[in-house]
Amino acid sequence: MAERIITAEELAQQLRAVSVAEFFEKNRHLLGYENPTKALITIVKEFVDNSLDACEEARILPDVKVVVREVAPDRFKVRVEDNGPGIVEEKLSLAFGKLLYGSKFHRLKMSRGTQGLGASGSILYSQLTTGKPAKVTSSIGKDIHEIELMIDVNKNEPKIISHKQEKNPNKWHGIKIEVETEGRYIEGKQSVMEYLRQTAMCNPYAKIIYDGPAGKIEFERGAKELPPLPREIKPHPYGVEVGLLRRMLAGTNSRNLTGFLTSDFSRVGRNSALEILKLAKLDGNKKPVDITHDETVELHKAMQMVKLIGPPTDCLSPLGEKLLEEGLRKETKAEFVVAVTRPPSVYRGNPFEIECALAFGGELPQEGGAQLFRFANKMPLLYHASDCATTESVIDTDWRRYAFSQSSGQLPQGQLAILIHFASVWVPYTSEGKQAIANYEEIIKEMKLALQEAGRQLAIYVRRKHKMKEGQMRRELFEKYIPELAESLEKLTNDKKEKLIAGLEKIVKRNGVKTDGEETGNDKESETTGK
Ligand SMILES: Nc1ncnc2c1ncn2[C@@H]1O[C@H](COP(=O)(O)OP(=O)(O)OP(=O)(O)O)[C@@H](O)[C@H]1O
Ligand SMILES: [Mg+2]
Repeated sequence: MAERIITAEELAQQLRAVSVAEFFEKNRHLLGYENPTKALITIVKEFVDNSLDACEEARILPDVKVVVREVAPDRFKVRVEDNGPGIVEEKLSLAFGKLLYGSKFHRLKMSRGTQGLGASGSILYSQLTTGKPAKVTSSIGKDIHEIELMIDVNKNEPKIISHKQEKNPNKWHGIKIEVETEGRYIEGKQSVMEYLRQTAMCNPYAKIIYDGPAGKIEFERGAKELPPLPREIKPHPYGVEVGLLRRMLAGTNSRNLTGFLTSDFSRVGRNSALEILKLAKLDGNKKPVDITHDETVELHKAMQMVKLIGPPTDCLSPLGEKLLEEGLRKETKAEFVVAVTRPPSVYRGNPFEIECALAFGGELPQEGGAQLFRFANKMPLLYHASDCATTESVIDTDWRRYAFSQSSGQLPQGQLAILIHFASVWVPYTSEGKQAIANYEEIIKEMKLALQEAGRQLAIYVRRKHKMKEGQMRRELFEKYIPELAESLEKLTNDKKEKLIAGLEKIVKRNGVKTDGEETGNDKESETTGK
C-alpha cells in the first residue's frame, strides 16, 4: 500500500502553541519529578525554599513548619507553613497557579528561586498525580485568604475552586500551602529529613519543625541574626550574551548608545563606554532601537574586549564564617569546626563567593570516610554529587597535607565533614534539576583555595590531638612498668623502692609537659608544608 504523504496545509492545521504547563506536564523530569521519591523531596524543597526567600527579603527570622502525612499507600499530604510577609490577594492565585510567574527572574540578586516555576511546578505535579486542588492560605497581616486552586494546563492559568476570607485578630502573616501528591517516603541520605537537616545547617537563623511519617523533629535556631540583605545589581558586560543585549537595546529607556552603556550596565563609566563604541565602530548618539543585528554583534564583541573592573558584589549574601561554623557545629555535633569565606570572585561576568567549613571528631561517624555537604545559594544539593564542581574540588585537594589519608580520585578518609557553599546571582547548574554546579575553572580554583585555607587550620588541631594521644599512650605504658622497674633499680642502687617509684612518677609527669611542648613546634612545621 502506498504511503500517504502529508501536505503542508494538513501540517499547518496541526501547528499550534504549546502552553508551558502542558510542556512541563509531559517533561516533569526537568523540574525534578523523575521518580516518586524525588518528587516528594522536590515538593518540600520548593515550598521551603520559597518560605526562606520570602522571610529573608522581609527581614523576618524564618519559622517554617513542614508536615508530611501518608494518606494512602504512596500518597501524601504535604503542608508547608511560614511566618513570612504573605502574598497580596490579587497575586495569590497567579503566584501558585501559573508556571513561569514569579518575582525573582528579572533581577540580578542572590536568592534561592529564580524561574517562577518551583511552587507552581509542585502544584502541577500534585494535581497530575492525584487530581486534587492545592490549598493556599495567605495573609499580609490583614484578612486571611484561603483559596483552593488548580492549574488550567491548556491555558497555563490558575483556576480558583473556592475562596474564603476571614478576620485576622492575631495579625498572623505568612503562607500555608497544602497539596496531595503521589510520592514515596524513604529515610537516609536522599530523603526529606536529610534535605531539611542540611537546610537547617546552611540556614542556622531559621527554625524548622518537621512532622513526618517517622515522627516530629525540631531544628532549632542556632543564630539570631540574618545575613545581610543582598542588593540588586545591573548586568555586567562580561556576563551578557548577544540575545540578551538585543532585548536590552530594544527595551531601554536611554535615548542614545552612550547613555545605554553607562546606565544599563554595572561598571561602565563614560570613558569605558567611549572605548567600547570606538572598538565597535559605532556612533554613541545613535538610538539603541536603531542598532542592527550586525552592529549588536560588534557591540557585544567590543564589550568583552574592553578592560572593566569586576561587578559589584553586594548582590551576594554569603553566610559568613560565624554562621557557617554555628550551622555545621549544630547539626554535626563535631568537636572542632572551622569556616572560611573567600572574597568574591567572578565567572563570565557573574559575581560569586565560595565558603567552606570543615568539622572534625565528636559525633561524626567514625567509619565511611568524609561526608560532603553541598550547597548553592543556601540550598542543599542532594543528587548528582559526582558531576558537581564541589566534589571535583574536594577530590583535587591533597588532604594528606592536612593529616587525612586519601586515595587518588577519592574523598578523604577520617572523621570529617566538608561543607561547601556556592553563592551567586546566577548558579551555573549542570541541568534544570538544580542538583550540581558546573565545573568552571574559576569556580574550582576558588573552592580549592577555601578548602586549603580551612584545611590548614584544621590540620593544626588534628596534629595536636594525634600527638597528645600518642604522648598519653606512651605515658600509660611507662606507668604500667614503673613498679617492675623500681624493683630492679632497688637491687642495683640499694635505694628504697617507694622513693624510686615517686622519682619515676615525677619523670612521667615532666615528660607529659615536654610532649605537649614538642607538638607546638611540629604544628608550625606542618602548617608550612601544608601551604
Ligand atoms: N512562601 C512565600 N511567601 C511569599 N511569597 C511567595 C512564597 N512562595 C512563593 N512566593 C512568590 O511566588 C512566586 C512564585 O514562586 P515559585 O516558587 O513558583 O517561583 P520562584 O521562587 O520565583 O522561582 P523558582 O522557580 O526558582 O522556584 C515567587 O517568586 C514569590 O514572589
Ligand atoms: Mg521558588
